Amino acid sequence: MPPLSDVRPIGIYDSGAGGLSTLRDIRRALPDEPLVYVADSAHLPYGEKSQEFLERRALAIADYFVSRQVRAIAVACNTATAAAIGTIRAHHPDLVVVGIEPAIKPAAQLSRSGVIGVFATHGTLASPRFAALAQRAAAGVRVVLRPCPDWVMLVENGQLDGDAARAAVDMAATALLDAGADVLVLGCTHFPFLLPLLRERVGPDLPIIEPGPALARQLAYRLRTEAPGLMAPAGYAGGCELLTSGDARRLGEQAMRLLQWALPAERLPATWR
Ligand code: DGL
Repeated sequence: MPPLSDVRPIGIYDSGAGGLSTLRDIRRALPDEPLVYVADSAHLPYGEKSQEFLERRALAIADYFVSRQVRAIAVACNTATAAAIGTIRAHHPDLVVVGIEPAIKPAAQLSRSGVIGVFATHGTLASPRFAALAQRAAAGVRVVLRPCPDWVMLVENGQLDGDAARAAVDMAATALLDAGADVLVLGCTHFPFLLPLLRERVGPDLPIIEPGPALARQLAYRLRTEAPGLMAPAGYAGGCELLTSGDARRLGEQAMRLLQWALPAERLPATWR
């Protein structure tokens, strides 16, 4: 068992509150590790930003995580992974860096119609990384794309039900179902919070693949195999800190609304905002 002072946190970040869905998955996979979550809310939405901008933000946030002595960074954002994970890895070769990508491969394997549907941001769907993934993992399957920037804002604003959310989910889902998709992929970490509405629209049987669990499994596997001696001891209960480049009180409220977790949130120190 490591001395308690050797236990180092895991840094997790997203453009805003969407990555809280991934935070929840990581907490399930790693119940004891200390977690530090950064919501880059001052720069939301990432889906409409340039690659250069996202790389700059990725390096600033990674820098903050290094100041907190993290041993791993989880990019809990498909858009930031597509734009900047290579840059983070190049600057921090000593850290475990994992990211999140639309789960095209399992979707392609599950599909019987030969058509899968992907909900994501403009940035993810337009990225060369996504094009390469679709070509590699879904050869022979038609991948129908649906950018949903409005879903991001619904989740940010806590509108998880009601007419506006139902209409937005209905419109996007209808487009993919009409195109023949028989498997749907949530290619953005905000979207699991709209799953109840999506389920209502598509029925109980259509497979919908969520982004977070695979990242959480991969992160846990890498930490346990690459540095087993640094794992927090069972029962350590490392806790979870929330920080944001935006409004701290709002992030605390979002965590309560989206996860039912009562956690205080703080402003990210100015250097990294
Ligand atoms: N949650 C993010 C993702 O997984 C991005 C949402 C946004 O800021 O546009 O892609």
